[in-house]
Amino acid sequence: MIKILTVVGARPQIIKAAALSRAVKNTFADKLEEKILHTGQHYDFNMSDVFFDEMQIPKPQYNLNVGSESHGKQTARMISGIEEVLSGEKFEAIVLYGDTNSTLAGAIAASKLNTPIIHIEAGLRSFNMAMPEEINRIVCDQLSSLLFAPTQTAIDNLSREGFSDSKAKFANGKQSQIFNSGDIMYDNSLFYSTIAEQKTNILKQLDIKDQDFALATIHRNHNTDNPERLSSVFEAFLEIAESKRINIVLPIHPRTGKALQKLPVIGDKIHKNSRIKLIPPISFFEMIVLEKHAKIIMTDSGGLQKEAYFFKKPCIIIRPETEWVEITEQNAGILTDTNKDLIIQAFEQLTLSEITYPPVFGVGNSAEFILDKTFNYLLYK
Ligand code: UD1
Repeated sequence: MIKILTVVGARPQIIKAAALSRAVKNTFADKLEEKILHTGQHYDFNMSDVFFDEMQIPKPQYNLNVGSESHGKQTARMISGIEEVLSGEKFEAIVLYGDTNSTLAGAIAASKLNTPIIHIEAGLRSFNMAMPEEINRIVCDQLSSLLFAPTQTAIDNLSREGFSDSKAKFANGKQSQIFNSGDIMYDNSLFYSTIAEQKTNILKQLDIKDQDFALATIHRNHNTDNPERLSSVFEAFLEIAESKRINIVLPIHPRTGKALQKLPVIGDKIHKNSRIKLIPPISFFEMIVLEKHAKIIMTDSGGLQKEAYFFKKPCIIIRPETEWVEITEQNAGILTDTNKDLIIQAFEQLTLSEITYPPVFGVGNSAEFILDKTFNYLLYK
C-alpha cells in the first residue's frame, strides 16, 4: 500500500480534493492510502466544512488551524506544521493543488524532506508577479516531481520554463515529469451536475428562474483591497441590474464582505437594490445549480471562469489577465479588469453573441489519470 498526504487549505482545494478522494475510494482502494491535512487557511463553516459534508470527503487526519494572518506568518505556520506531520508519519508523496499559500507551504516543507511532490493544476501562469498566486505556483512547480497540467497552454508554459530539458534531478535520481491531465474541476462539475439539482433549492430560495439572473463573485485581494477598483465593479453591477433588468446573485467572500463595509455609500446602494441578491458564501452544489441556470457569469475567480465554460455560459473576467486563455481565445469570456464601462460593454457583447465551447479542459477523468500516473511513479521510485 502506497501512502500519500493530500494538503488542502482554501475552498477550491477542498472541492478539487473531493474528486481525487472519490477516485482513490472507487478505483485505487487496494493500492493507495490517502490521508488529508487541512492547513486551516479557510476556517469558516461555509468556506470549509460545508464542502467536506456535502461531497463526503474523508475528514482530515490533521488540521493545523493556522487561520488568517499576513502571508509570511500564515505560510510559516503551515510550513512548520506540515514538516512536523511529514517527519512523524512516512508518506511516499504529498499532493498539492493550485496556487494558494497552503500549496506553497506544502511544497517547501515536502521538498526539504525529499518527499516527492505531486502538483495538480501545474503550469498555469498569469505572468503577473504582483499576484501571490503566481509566486506560489512558480515555486511549487519548480519543486514538484509530477506536474499535472490542466491544459495544453499550461504544458507549453512549463516547456518554455525548461522543464522538458531540465537536468535537475530529485533525491530518487529522477527528473520531474509533466502530463496534460485535463482539469480535475471538470470531473466534479460533471459528477455533481445532476445530484446538485436534486439536493438544493437555491433558485426558489432566491426567487429567481433559469436565465433571469447573472451570477457574480469578487474576492481577489487586488480587487477587494482597493476601494476604487471595488467600487467600480459594484457600480457596474448596479448599472447592469437596472439597465438590463436582470437579477444579480452575488455570493460574498468574507474578505469582500469586510471591504464592502468600508464603502458605506456603494454598500448601501447594493443592499437596497432589489435585483442584487447579496448572499453569504454558498455550498458547491448551490454554486453548480446557479452556474447551470445563470444567463452569464461575472467573476475574478479562476475556478468560476472555468465552471462557466463547463456549463457553456459566457464569462466576464474581472481581471487584467487570465491563466485560462482558452476561454478568451474561444470568445467565451472577455477580460475587463475592474473598468465599469468595459464590464457593461462585455455584458452586452456576450449576451448577444453565439458562442461554442469545444472541450479544451479534457473529458472529466482527470482524477483517475492522475492516480494512475502517480501510482506507477511511486511504485518504481
Ligand atoms: C485564497 C487564495 C486564492 C484562492 C482563494 C479561494 C492565497 C494567497 N490565496 O484567497 O488563490 O482563490 O483562497 O477562496 O492563498 N476569511 C474568513 N474566513 C475564512 C477564510 C478567510 O473570514 O474562512 C477572510 C480573512 O479575513 C482573511 C481573508 O478572508 O484574512 C483572506 O483569506 P486568505 O485565505 O488569506 O485568502 P483568500 O482571499 O481566501
